[in-house]
Amino acid sequence: MALGEPADIVGLIEAATRIGGILFRPDSAAADIGIERLRLCPKLGERFLGCDPEHAGLTLIDCVKIDVNQSKIDHLSRKGENIMKNGLEDVIAAETQLSDVDGEAGRLIIRGISLDHLIGETSFEDVAALLLDGMTEAPVEANDLAARLGSARVEVASHFSAVDATLISLPPVEAVRALLARLEDGEGFETMLRLLAAPAVFLPGVLRLQRGESPLAPDPALSQAADILRMLTGKMPSAEQIAALDAYLVTISDHGLNASTFASRVIASTRAGLTSSVLAAISALKGPLHGGAPGPVLDMLEAIGTADNAKAWLGDALDRGERLMGFGHRVYRVRDPRADALKAALKPLFATGQVDRARSELAEAVEAAALAILRERKPNRPLDVNVEFYTALLLEALGFPREAFTGVFAIGRTVGWLAHAREQALEGRLIRPRSVYVGPLPAAA
Ligand code: ACO
Repeated sequence: MALGEPADIVGLIEAATRIGGILFRPDSAAADIGIERLRLCPKLGERFLGCDPEHAGLTLIDCVKIDVNQSKIDHLSRKGENIMKNGLEDVIAAETQLSDVDGEAGRLIIRGISLDHLIGETSFEDVAALLLDGMTEAPVEANDLAARLGSARVEVASHFSAVDATLISLPPVEAVRALLARLEDGEGFETMLRLLAAPAVFLPGVLRLQRGESPLAPDPALSQAADILRMLTGKMPSAEQIAALDAYLVTISDHGLNASTFASRVIASTRAGLTSSVLAAISALKGPLHGGAPGPVLDMLEAIGTADNAKAWLGDALDRGERLMGFGHRVYRVRDPRADALKAALKPLFATGQVDRARSELAEAVEAAALAILRERKPNRPLDVNVEFYTALLLEALGFPREAFTGVFAIGRTVGWLAHAREQALEGRLIRPRSVYVGPLPAAA
């Protein structure tokens, strides 16, 4: 290329990747690294080059916009080391004793115990005691925790007196968040108990209010799972229903440094208090890429309708650039072990007729079709079923409306958020990463 001539960077990238063939996907290479062609502005040219754009002996680079948010590449420092990881992928931001997610083996360990050993053998209260042990002023005993959690449920129910029509008109998880914001901040065990109890009381109460019924008072003698179901339906749940919800709450109690847990730790690192941590975490959880996915899973199953429509429907969704809800994970490269734990938790409900068999059969057919089409369309990215797929079926079978699924997730995950927040406050420093500035520079004087 002649000196003084503008170099077409976008064209060069497209041409180079065409030579690279399949590896670089020639059609979208420039867009994939966030580069878009702009018109050369002489003023900008001056600024970038520090001299007149017409200056002989220089090659002018066509003015391009690099959009870091779109970019799938990471920034490198001059020495070549990585200084920016889009999505913080593979960045280690905390040391934890709480849980480990092994994405290659498809294994979840909570405080040294594998998830498959916790399910069915450990109640939600046991897991809460396990996670909170060492994070409070005094040791936490499961029996003591169950009784104190019951009392805390009774205590937080008084907040229903402040509910108004605006709050009731919010989506359930947002109404729960608004009620949680009424709890005082603190770091101690009493604050933890209130925060653990509050979503379990607020969610069924909000759902009842939304259907024109009054919230029911908590029963401190019941387990958290039994009381949630009783407060939701007004009837004492069956042993199978209690066991299924308990298994769900255990399964989702903690899961490494996911987005909501990270949010909780960031807030904890500022010493703002546990209520603030939980509010940040529940806000992160409600997004459809995180804990907001199971409602859309049911929408997807209903839109597909019948098993023989699955392949075509899923193909069309991928053609439109949509994500298949309940599939894919940042860490798991194999099946999410929580998906199988929840599928197993559904089984006892079949025997009692509490699961819609047709729905379940459709879900299995959709799962198989989705896995096949994802393998075909995304050969370089192992995508498998995640926790949200069977969450949708389980929570529907237990009588929760789909708009409440994220709220139920929050009931179970609050204990993880609290344990991580305390761990961060006890052992961590202020979380304060840096950014790479890619905006315009001030005009030269
Ligand atoms: N459907 C279709 N394609 C997918 C899916 C999916 N569910 N998930 C990832 N991909 C594809 C992306 O399109 C991308 O393909 P490309 O490289 O050809 O553009 C590739 O896989 C990588 O995607 P990323 O966005 O980089 O993956 P990331 O790790 O950021 O995404 C996430 C993880 C957000 C969970 C994603 O898999 C997703 O959106 N899934 C659907 C929503 C969902 O089920 N969320 C619940 C997750 S579990 C939880 O948080 C409790």
